[in-house]
Amino acid sequence: MDPVRIAIVGLRNIGKGHLRRAVACDQAVVTAVVDTDPERREQAQAEFAIPRAYADAAEAFADPAVDAVVLAVPNHLHAPLSIAALEAGKHVLVEKPMACTAAEAEAMLAARDRTGRHLLIGMNQRFSSRGYRELLASGAIGTFQYGRCRWNRRRPHVALWARGDWFCDRKRSGGGPLADIGVHKLDQLLFVLGWPRVERVSAVIGMGVGARCGQARGRNYGVEDFATVQLRLEGGGVIVCEAAYFLNQSEEEYQDMVCYGTLGGCATANPEAWTVADDESVVPLALPDVTGLSATPVEHLVAVIQGREEAMCTPEQGVDMQRILDAAYRSADQGCEVAVPQAVLA
Ligand SMILES: NC(=O)c1ccc[n+]([C@@H]2O[C@H](COP(=O)([O-])OP(=O)(O)OC[C@H]3O[C@@H](n4cnc5c(N)ncnc54)[C@H](O)[C@@H]3O)[C@@H](O)[C@H]2O)c1
Repeated sequence: MDPVRIAIVGLRNIGKGHLRRAVACDQAVVTAVVDTDPERREQAQAEFAIPRAYADAAEAFADPAVDAVVLAVPNHLHAPLSIAALEAGKHVLVEKPMACTAAEAEAMLAARDRTGRHLLIGMNQRFSSRGYRELLASGAIGTFQYGRCRWNRRRPHVALWARGDWFCDRKRSGGGPLADIGVHKLDQLLFVLGWPRVERVSAVIGMGVGARCGQARGRNYGVEDFATVQLRLEGGGVIVCEAAYFLNQSEEEYQDMVCYGTLGGCATANPEAWTVADDESVVPLALPDVTGLSATPVEHLVAVIQGREEAMCTPEQGVDMQRILDAAYRSADQGCEVAVPQAVLA
């Protein structure tokens, strides 16, 4: 089988990680790197001996020695660059969140349908969550009732100020911690549950602390400090999702996920899964061992292109997620529960 020829677009934080993994993947070869920043471009090209380096992503999309592109660029570029790459005949792995709005995500999905290329979303927490998904599908914890997922960081979240400034600009990010890190936890939980339809959401966001911390550093901070979202699922069941950059919590950072069913539960903590017996004893359950599949989004992209794996992080689900995020921000703005538009079938 021919190796998949990849271009990595965006070479700073997560893009460097994708580059390392693509270089290490025996079924892939990195033929080009792209970044508007010359230093990052040259450094990546030199460190990994990549044949070509481009300042403009359009050059990589036009390169016949590129089969697929990995887009690790600010969120507002996800839609235009994905669509341009698909139209140029390339397969695409785009980072999360899929886009800044559901309308952008829908346009990306339409481009995927038009071009027949693969479009995958970089939801990397799914790769370690497949055992939970199998456990729930087996019925071992009964019918899902309630789930909670959180990713919260403590004020002043020093690392944030070292990241790209677009993270704090709603126009370029699509949202704050909910769209950035909450999206990972919510995606993980919905994935584990087998992607149920979310009917209604009710969200509250907090503002003010981040803006004051930003002001003290001469930086703009235009997104929420924290968000808490309640999601009602079709057929019953509720999820609460929390995400924060600026909580005055004792831990620097934590993230978790927990699911409760009618017989037991599972969590990203110990024990990982259990049932509760009638005498109230907690009986640990083993998580199914899901091995032999790719462990990272880049390996998965390559496996999907080569026909060895079914696409896991689909753009249909990416559109669903964008609709949920849009609805959550709308709910927070309006101060009431709102309906999530009909889901796309995955
Ligand atoms: N899956 C994860 O765990 C994870 C973690 C971090 C970031 N992300 C996502 O990855 C994406 C990038 O995040 P980051 O933290 O690496 O951002 P970053 O700001 O650190 O890096 C973005 C890079 O893109 C480059 N760039 C900007 N515009 C470009 C263009 N038009 N063409 C080519 N290069 C361009 C910048 O110069 C920079 O090097 C975002 O969508 C973010 O949400 C995902």
